Amino acid sequence: MHIEGSVALVTGANRGIGRALVHELVKRGASKVYAAARRPEQIDLPGVVPLRLDITDPEQVAEAARIAADTTLLVNNAGVSRYSKLVTGDMADIRQEMNTNYFGTLSTVRAFAPVLAANGGGAILNVLSVMAWLGYEHSNGYGASKAALWALTNGIRVELAPQGTQVTGLMLASTDTDMMAGIDVPKNRPEDVARSALDGVEAGRLEVLADADSIALKAALSSDPAEIYPQVVGAA
Ligand SMILES: NC(=O)c1ccc[n+]([C@@H]2O[C@H](COP(=O)([O-])OP(=O)(O)OC[C@H]3O[C@@H](n4cnc5c(N)ncnc54)[C@H](OP(=O)(O)O)[C@@H]3O)[C@@H](O)[C@H]2O)c1
Repeated sequence: MHIEGSVALVTGANRGIGRALVHELVKRGASKVYAAARRPEQIDLPGVVPLRLDITDPEQVAEAARIAADTTLLVNNAGVSRYSKLVTGDMADIRQEMNTNYFGTLSTVRAFAPVLAANGGGAILNVLSVMAWLGYEHSNGYGASKAALWALTNGIRVELAPQGTQVTGLMLASTDTDMMAGIDVPKNRPEDVARSALDGVEAGRLEVLADADSIALKAALSSDPAEIYPQVVGAA
């Protein structure tokens, strides 16, 4: 997948990692970048095409696919974290995370799959999270939605292979955006995450591990749960 000359669409493009991805796409010579956002008036980067898109609104998703019918690279970045606990958290928060991160992305993929096919196959980049791989008290609603998105990413990769669409999943830990404001941990820069992600897409990689924590958690996937969650051993 060559970014130069491609036509890209980024969801959640008005801030954070989405905005950094739009900036990097323009820098790499994409011929057109649709910067999709719930409030397109917030798009502040020059040389891009603002597009109204709430990924949980099926009519807006269908309209975006009609308008951006020349898309060759779909970047599913839009996401939400309500920091909800599964057992005691508000179900509305847990549903919003699943509706946005999983069903919203799925709806966007379904609308754009025929567009990508018509334009020669193209590529999809899904922005996941290491929380798909780790139970963590304050992010489990979010983690479940990202685990669903991980399964979606693997599933659509298989389903879209016959039409020649490359599907890349981006794994990342903590990045300095509004989503992580107030959480005091070391954070990556959105610009660095965007560069790693697009390097991976251009190299044809199916998974990008954007930082050391993502690499460590990927390596731990084959461990026994007792090793990953020592705090629960003997607690029951
Ligand atoms: N920051 C991190 O440490 C981190 C780590 C792992 C994964 N991620 C993932 O990276 C992606 C970008 O997050 P970020 O860190 O840049 O967070 P952010 O600054 O909070 O940005 C989230 C973006 O998603 C958009 N969005 C939320 N719900 C939407 C909807 N229904 N339709 C369309 N857009 C919607 C927001 O739009 P509004 O401005 O309209 O709210 C905003 O543009 C997300 O998928 C997130 O889960 C982030």
